[in-house]
Formats: sequence, C-alpha cells, structure tokens
Amino acid sequence: MRKIDLNEIILQNILHHTDIGIHVIDKDRRTIAYNDAMAKLEGLKKEQVMNKDLLKVFPSLNENTSTLIKVLTTKEPIVDETQTYINYKGEKIVSINSTIPLFYKDEIVGALEIAKNITYLKRLSDKLMDLQHELKNTKKRKNNRIKNYTFDDIIGNNEKMINAIEIAKRASNSPSSVLIYGETGTGKELFAQSIHTGGIRRDKPFIAQNCAAIPEALLEGILFGTEKGGFTGAVEREGIFQQADGGTLLLDEINSMSLGLQAKLLRVLQEGYIRRIGGLKDIPIDVRIIATTNEEPLESIKNGTLRKDLFYRLNVVYLRIPPLRERKDDIILLCNHFIKKFNIMLGKNIVGVEDHVLEAFYQYSWPGNVRELENAIEGAMNYAPYDRRYLTKEDFISCPHIMKDEDSVILDEKYIDRPLPDYLDMIEKDIIVKALENSKNNISKAAKKLGIKRQTLQHKLKKYGLSAK
Ligand SMILES: Nc1ncnc2c1ncn2[C@@H]1O[C@H](COP(=O)(O)OP(=O)(O)OP(=O)(O)O)[C@@H](O)[C@H]1O
Ligand SMILES: [Mg+2]
Repeated sequence: MRKIDLNEIILQNILHHTDIGIHVIDKDRRTIAYNDAMAKLEGLKKEQVMNKDLLKVFPSLNENTSTLIKVLTTKEPIVDETQTYINYKGEKIVSINSTIPLFYKDEIVGALEIAKNITYLKRLSDKLMDLQHELKNTKKRKNNRIKNYTFDDIIGNNEKMINAIEIAKRASNSPSSVLIYGETGTGKELFAQSIHTGGIRRDKPFIAQNCAAIPEALLEGILFGTEKGGFTGAVEREGIFQQADGGTLLLDEINSMSLGLQAKLLRVLQEGYIRRIGGLKDIPIDVRIIATTNEEPLESIKNGTLRKDLFYRLNVVYLRIPPLRERKDDIILLCNHFIKKFNIMLGKNIVGVEDHVLEAFYQYSWPGNVRELENAIEGAMNYAPYDRRYLTKEDFISCPHIMKDEDSVILDEKYIDRPLPDYLDMIEKDIIVKALENSKNNISKAAKKLGIKRQTLQHKLKKYGLSAK
C-alpha cells in the first residue's frame, strides 16, 4: 500500500475548508495551488486557473499590477494590502491580501497570496459613514431625539468621582485633547459627551468611533475619507474627521487601533490637516479629540498597544473614572437614579431597594460597573409586581450571582445526601468561616456577630480544625 502522506492530507483539508483565499504560483508564474475560497472570491472555477500561466488566466494583469508576479521579482513580501476589483462574475470585491515570496535554499521558487474577503464589512462601513453623514445633515439641534448627555446626567458623590467631574468640567471649554481611562461600563462615553455638550462646541457635531473590531484599512478610510480612485475602485467620501469639523471626535478604545494608524493619527493631530486615502489635497480640520481606553495607558505603552508619542499628545487632560467597587458609597444614589428612570419607562412606583439587597450590592465587586448595576435594576423592575414598593432579592431573579443568598448554602450540592449531623456541621463550619472573614479574623468580633461566647467559638474552631489566621 502506498505510504500515506499525512502532511499532504492536512494541507489539502486546510486549503479546502478555510474561508481565506489561497493562490500559489511557481517561479514560472504557473498556478500550483488555488483553493475554493479564492475561486469564489475571483468568480472563477479552479480548473480555469490550476496549472495555467497566471497572465493567460488574468490577461488584464501585468508585471506591475499582479502582486504575485511583483513578489516573484522583488522577493519582498506585501502585507495586508487592501484590493478592490470587479471579479469575473462582475461582483465588486474588497479584500485584504498578503503576498509572500517562497524560498527554497535561498532561491525563490514561487509566491503565495492569501486573501481575506472583507466586501461585506466594507459595505457595512460605507453604510455607517453614509448614515452618519445623513445624521449630521438632518440633525436639528433643538428638537433632535438623540440623547445628548450633560454633566447633570453623571451621578456620583464619591470623592474620586467629584474630582473626575471637576476635571472634566474644566476641560469642556478648552480645545485640548482628553484621554479617559476607565473599565467597561464606568461611564466613559457619558463623560465624553458631557465634556462636548458642556463646552463651546456643543452646537457642532459629536461623533463617536470605536477603534476596535474594524480592520485598519477600513478604519483609515472612515477617519480620513477616501478619494475617487480608478485603480482602487474607491468612491469619494468624507471621513469622520471632516464630518466632526468644529466639533468633537470620540475615539473609543484607542489602544485597539493598529500602531501604524496611531502614527498617522498623531501626524494629523500635530499638523492639523488630513489627507484622504488616494487624495493629494491637505484639508485643514479643527476637531477636538477625546480618546478612551479600558486599559491603564502606561500598561498599554509597556505591552506595545499604545504609542508613547500618541499618548503624550492625547494625554493633555487625563481622566480616570474609578470602577464602581472603588466607590460603593455611590451605589445607593445610582440605584435611586435608575429606579426613577425605569419607573417612568415601565410605569411602576418603586421607591427604593430593601436593605438586604443593598447589603448584597455592597458585597459584590461589579466587574461590569455602572452598566451592570443599571441592567440589574432594569431586570428587577421588569420582574417586580406592580404593587411593589421596595425591590427585594427575589426581584433580582436575573442576577443570582449578585444576590448570593445565605439560605442557598442549605441547598448547596455538596451538602446533599449526607447524614443530618454532618450536614449541620458543614453548614455551621461555613457560617463560622464567613463570620471570621467578615471580622477580619478577629475572634471576639466574629463571636459577637454570631451571637455566641468567645470560648464557644474557640471550641468550635478547634472542632473544625480552623484557626483565625
Ligand atoms: N456616573 C454615572 N451616572 C449615571 N449613569 C451612568 C454613570 N456611569 C455610567 N452610567 C450609565 O452606564 C451605562 C454605561 O456607560 P458608558 O457607555 O458611558 O460606559 P463606557 O465606560 O463607555 O463603557 P464601555 O467601555 O463598555 O464602552 C450608560 O447607560 C450610562 O448612562
Ligand atoms: Mg463606551
């Protein structure tokens, strides 16, 4: 039997099943690998391309326009280049291509092209830009229905919050860049909008752009715009820098932007003008930049996701919004604020939360911050019966992890199916451990909390092999 070449089988399967287009030519420009994804992208059949001379299959290409041939000649890779073309089925395709020279013992033996189809994404991004443009042109400030947050919408009495609000208020009338750092759901967008609406630019546009999740090639076009280009097939379109002219541009998750684009952004901020992709004209812009990040900026610089020079340029005003667990004293204010908001929305008459709910809120660490609290309240208010005045633990049915109920210990899996005395011992042990934790291992305090004598507690500690560390 013929020896099975496992590598060959793996390779064939990868080529067949991946949705990334792959095209390989040898040094005589003959196609030696061409997968289904590439065939679909180019609107051809595999047989039309395999083992054929590249320029015979694609007569419109030449030495200068075919990236595969170019790489054979220059022996240099071309990385992440956006290509726009009409394929053989007449479909307009946008792809991100990389072309890599293949070497065997220092000699070039071929070239490999990999292509990611981003046509759909590009269509979405174009749509987004058109909508944004439309919005800008139809927006009537006086009665627009889009909520524009102001400083009055920021709830917080905690010292760190008051300090952050103070810095933000002072920054509203200056044109300087602002860098806002805060975990997810801490209110970065709320702050950014308030800074805009609190300042002299309030009647000018406020445009927010998330820098994560959009490939660099598209984001660049979205930011700076594109000029009609015969070769690239791009259409003429204004970028959001121009759309936000005179106003504020919020660049969300700046640390997700590629370093290359960060460098281009820095140049724009320093020089005060942009140049559209494929354009020759320098267009002056006057845009106030607010950037946000959910990672400590110095940490981002250290791990290489944020350019130091851009950081200095953005960090003229620095705002750190503390996570909710650092300002638990604001929880009650926020609860009441959201209750009021959802009373109106849901037609209920809730006046507050019960003490044991608040207690659970204080114990919880709130990784999703204010957004998580807002959603918890909204969920509970949907669930609460119409005659409810104070939200109870039972209303928070959608977030049992927040309402860790002491009662639940009895139903805990690990206690089920044991003799009753053992069962009770384990529960007692759990309660003692918790009491010790809550009294920072102070035996007298823990005993007091448990309502037993200090000696009794010591006796129980011994029984369960526990110690107050
Ligand atoms: N201090 C606050 N007072 C009132 N509402 C707040 C406060 N902070 C946040 N919120 C509310 O919490 C939600 C999340 O806020 P926002 O979108 O500004 O957070 P973010 O920091 O931008 O989050 P992400 O990093 O996930 O984008 C919003 O509904 C906002 O109105
Ligand atoms: Mg945000």
